[in-house]
Amino acid sequence: AKSFPKTEACFQRKFGTNAAAAQAEVPRKEEIEEKAAPKPFIDVQAERQEQAERSVLISCQSKTNEKKFLKLLSKHGDIKKYFYYESYGTYAVVEFANKESIASLLEATAIPSVNHESTVPFKSRLLSLRGSGPAEQSRLQCEPQTTIPINELIQRLSREESVDRQVTSLTEAYQLTEENVHLRFLVCSLVKDIAAAYFPECIIRPFGSSVNGFGKLGCDLDMFLDLDGISGRNIKVPKTGLSLEYQMKRASSERAVTQSILSVIGECVDQFGPGCVGVQKILNARCPLVRFAHQPSGFQCDLTANNRVAMKSTELLYLYGALDQRVRCMVFTVRCWARAHGITSSIPGAWITNFSLTVMVLFFLQRRSPPIIPTLDHLQELAGPGDKSVIEGNDCTFVSDFSKIQLHNNTETLEQLLREFFEFYGSFAFTKMSINIRKGKEQNKPEVAPLHIQNPFEPSLNVSKNVNGTQLERFVALCQESSWLLQQSDISTPRGGSEGQTPVPWGLATLLLPSQVAVIKGRKKRKREPASERIKSLLESLKNKNQQKKS
Ligand code: GTP
Ligand code: MG
Repeated sequence: AKSFPKTEACFQRKFGTNAAAAQAEVPRKEEIEEKAAPKPFIDVQAERQEQAERSVLISCQSKTNEKKFLKLLSKHGDIKKYFYYESYGTYAVVEFANKESIASLLEATAIPSVNHESTVPFKSRLLSLRGSGPAEQSRLQCEPQTTIPINELIQRLSREESVDRQVTSLTEAYQLTEENVHLRFLVCSLVKDIAAAYFPECIIRPFGSSVNGFGKLGCDLDMFLDLDGISGRNIKVPKTGLSLEYQMKRASSERAVTQSILSVIGECVDQFGPGCVGVQKILNARCPLVRFAHQPSGFQCDLTANNRVAMKSTELLYLYGALDQRVRCMVFTVRCWARAHGITSSIPGAWITNFSLTVMVLFFLQRRSPPIIPTLDHLQELAGPGDKSVIEGNDCTFVSDFSKIQLHNNTETLEQLLREFFEFYGSFAFTKMSINIRKGKEQNKPEVAPLHIQNPFEPSLNVSKNVNGTQLERFVALCQESSWLLQQSDISTPRGGSEGQTPVPWGLATLLLPSQVAVIKGRKKRKREPASERIKSLLESLKNKNQQKKS
């Protein structure tokens, strides 16, 4: 068994030391060496949040004189880091070494005087660079904030020399970058400044794929308005003698309070929030939310409140993703594969969600022999007193200290795992069994539903309740097809290709090409078709797609 060391000195595995590093860097297999345990989720969050508070977002010109720009900002203190990106214009994220610099900078910033219009004088850390200097010849170097299109990805993967490299290459192409994570926390911090007008002690925390290690560039930004830190909740009222308490408005339920808070903050974001557009209040959903687009960052934002369980499942996913680098690689690959075949969708409906798919990958990795990741029950056993967490009567406790977790010595390659994944779900007893990562074993289904995945923290709930029979059948058929494809020697060997020419798809790249499942009924018929024919038709469809793109 392998365990994580407690100190930086005793290296065990190569891991990033925080979420972004874990996301920004997928070590090549040959680079895997011993390194210290990853940091607990809450520590990474706190560091990122603090960094965001020391940062500003500035709209500038693509040909801004960088030297002069940095000189102007440096008047207010040392700049620790900065980068540029494009999104409806060019923007700079500037992180100062000290928070005081922000106050100084804002003090020297002017309120715009506009003709024929008026402005809401709400100040924030979203600024614009004004004035002109001699235009620069060169443009600012921008960091990409979106992924490459699928066709480009297919070509990139086709140039790799092993399926393992294809899987890591896909992960490298899709994962969030260090800069993108910084920007996500900065946007949360900007929204916090708006909410703080009502609740000065509030925190806006990102959750979901922005921070769980499985985020793809361009994914939405899930935010959680955290009011639990408001002081005064833990003040003990003396049994005798006088004491004071706040008078507060009461509502009929927790839900009603959440709705009214989100309604007001949503209104404020809409009316006063610079750069926030298309605000929609979706307050009657199971989990009430305010949805809006933050234009300067290009993020689609979902703001929720009183959503502690989702925060806990984010932490759990982060932990699993940081335990073994194969976890993130598998999740990225399966998510990308599912998206390419329309198994998941950006529109809500009877589709399998990314969250369900992730839980399915985790379950599969628990079922390996020996298991690659531990069960949730085991993680609960390892928890210390500080890890205790009960939310609405549900025990959400699990360990946060990575050094307490012992891993088995499973050496399966990504290629093996991918093939086995499709095999596993291509023949899983979905009609009878439920997927359960708490136990790490399938359980008898407690209720009728085509796909049953037990919610890890609310055991009576099915995470995939929305999925209908047709969607499950498509998933199973595609798993079978992909498993079959990976077993064909002509598909699973690199095909080479001359320099400068479009490489011939092979391995993982073939799995991302349009499938024949929808057209060909029955697996037997497809099996008899020679593999060369299959590749030919797959190639044809890729060519057509390329042509469509060009025209
Ligand atoms: P993306 O598709 O990249 O946005 O993935 P995501 O993980 O961020 O999913 P999404 O934005 O739909 O949801 C955000 C978070 O809410 C997830 O990471 C989960 O923690 C939680 N969540 C989403 N769907 C469910 C669900 O059906 N059940 C439970 N318990 N939690 C969910
Ligand atoms: Mg999300």
